[in-house]
Amino acid sequence: MPKPVLHDHDGHVDDILSAVLLWMAPEIDLQAIGITNGDCFADQAYSAMVKIATYLQLEGAEIAVTEDAVPNPFPDNWRKESFIINELPLFSEIEMRRSYQQKQGRKIESVFYDCLNNTKTPMTIVTTGPLTNVAPLLKDNPDFKGKVEELVIMGGAFNVPGNVQEEGHDGSAEWNIYADPEAFKATLDSKVPIKLIPLDVTNQLPVTKEFLGLLDEFSDRSRGCTLALRLWSLVKGFEYYFWDTLTAAATIKPDLYTFKEMRIDVATQGKSMGRTSTSLFGGRKVHVATSVDKEGFESLLLSIFKSR
Ligand code: RIB
Ligand code: CA
Repeated sequence: MPKPVLHDHDGHVDDILSAVLLWMAPEIDLQAIGITNGDCFADQAYSAMVKIATYLQLEGAEIAVTEDAVPNPFPDNWRKESFIINELPLFSEIEMRRSYQQKQGRKIESVFYDCLNNTKTPMTIVTTGPLTNVAPLLKDNPDFKGKVEELVIMGGAFNVPGNVQEEGHDGSAEWNIYADPEAFKATLDSKVPIKLIPLDVTNQLPVTKEFLGLLDEFSDRSRGCTLALRLWSLVKGFEYYFWDTLTAAATIKPDLYTFKEMRIDVATQGKSMGRTSTSLFGGRKVHVATSVDKEGFESLLLSIFKSR
């Protein structure tokens, strides 16, 4: 039976493509997508997601949006990418499906609440942005513990430098955790099992020209490949990794990964705010990805994108 999944993302290129992967993978029953105001302007990313669902003729998942600010906002020039995605000429010809016309997205908290409340099978929650929406959902509804199979989170940096380069910060934190460290801390305090896909693993897999070349080979007959190629082309020239798509793939095919159980903690204040660290005695046990089968991962992505 396909795994029931909720995906909360923050609207950047790899977030959107990870939502598409989860939606198209036969192993997954994607029930809802939440769009958080992290590495995007949420209204733009919401509108783009609706267009993409229409372009790829994807059905079933509800798209939700929450426009609340996160405590440490992502740089504006990164977030503005969501305007470009929303205005891609690729979507100019498509007519919005009736189900989406003139409809405002419901708030993530309500949609995820309804899904968890009604589910008979425990669900997997995937987050590829800050934990701002998911943390209060778990905190305010402790009885959801039995309804959540696991949380798969893109976040953290352990034995590699972080990717936050803000004034006054020491650079040790990864962005999704830095954006809302208290929310990550609250998530660690919940009782649900957690898998973490940190920079230590995602640094091993940049989005390469060779991989984009493979997508290009199918783009004349696959909308999935056309879209993926178009979106990743927007970030050519940046140091861009398969951060969130690796997190989606860890949900679709966990066997591609090696995980290690570790006790971890997070700094919520000071110049290392958002830094994740291992802790010998305290902390909370999570399964941290330490390596991935690169060929298996890339062929999984290609086979899913090619399927439409
Ligand atoms: O640190 C990597 C994270 O930041 C990813 O989720 C990516 O989408 C960016 O927002
Ligand atoms: Ca993201």
